[in-house]
Amino acid sequence: MKIFLDTADIEEIRIAARWGVLDGVTTNPSLYAKVGGSYEDILREICKITSGPVSAEVVAEDVDGMLREGRAFAKLARNIVVKVPMSEEGLEAISRFAEEGIRTNCTLIFTSNQGLLAAKAGASLISPFVGRLDDINQDGMIVIRELAEMFSLFDIDAEILTASVRHPQHVTQAALAGSHIATLPFKVLQQMIHHPLTDKGIVTFRQDWEKARAAAAAKDHADGTPGEITEPDSGAQPAKGTAGGSARAGSRSRPAAGS
Ligand code: E4P
Repeated sequence: MKIFLDTADIEEIRIAARWGVLDGVTTNPSLYAKVGGSYEDILREICKITSGPVSAEVVAEDVDGMLREGRAFAKLARNIVVKVPMSEEGLEAISRFAEEGIRTNCTLIFTSNQGLLAAKAGASLISPFVGRLDDINQDGMIVIRELAEMFSLFDIDAEILTASVRHPQHVTQAALAGSHIATLPFKVLQQMIHHPLTDKGIVTFRQDWEKARAAAAAKDHADGTPGEITEPDSGAQPAKGTAGGSARAGSRSRPAAGS
């Protein structure tokens, strides 16, 4: 499953790109309102950071307005995808954009029937909002599961983009339900990385390493021989034939990756 970031914050996008996990970005007027500035400049900057799809949302509610805004967004970069809300006007705009070769993301999807119609009209991304459904006591994942089944049954090309993700379990559930993409707030991406046992384990390994180094250094000092333990990431190798070249308890360097 592809992972998009659901933000207009450039720094968050840069960080996720550096982690090597970023497949695209979704923005919306509310996310843009959090950062301010020029929406066009932000979109251009995002499109430089990722070559994946970057959704830019129209705010017009009439077809001509949607087309005008969407065509302007599409000129900003080749990876822009125009985000259009589900509505009668939205479907018409999606269909017109498809004829013009402009990719669209149909947003504010709350039922599988809406998703089916958006795909038929020509949207390449279909965005069901799972969190907002959960908020009103309806199971958002049902829409993802139904759409995944429909798209598979009828070989529909559009991709399901699970949106309104609130926590890491939504990501796991979306992947298992067959969603092609999930778009995540940066906080949820960070929550996916961390686990208390992982974070604790890193501290324990470091502490044990330091203890071993101190013990080896104390022994070397007592023996009058130079210590051999190297920094974990120094890459230093003890010279062959020196005291440091022998295999001793407490002597270690970082194991090779995969070992
Ligand atoms: C993304 O495309 C959607 O606009 C976004 O995920 C909505 O999330 P929210 O329900 O948290 O506002």
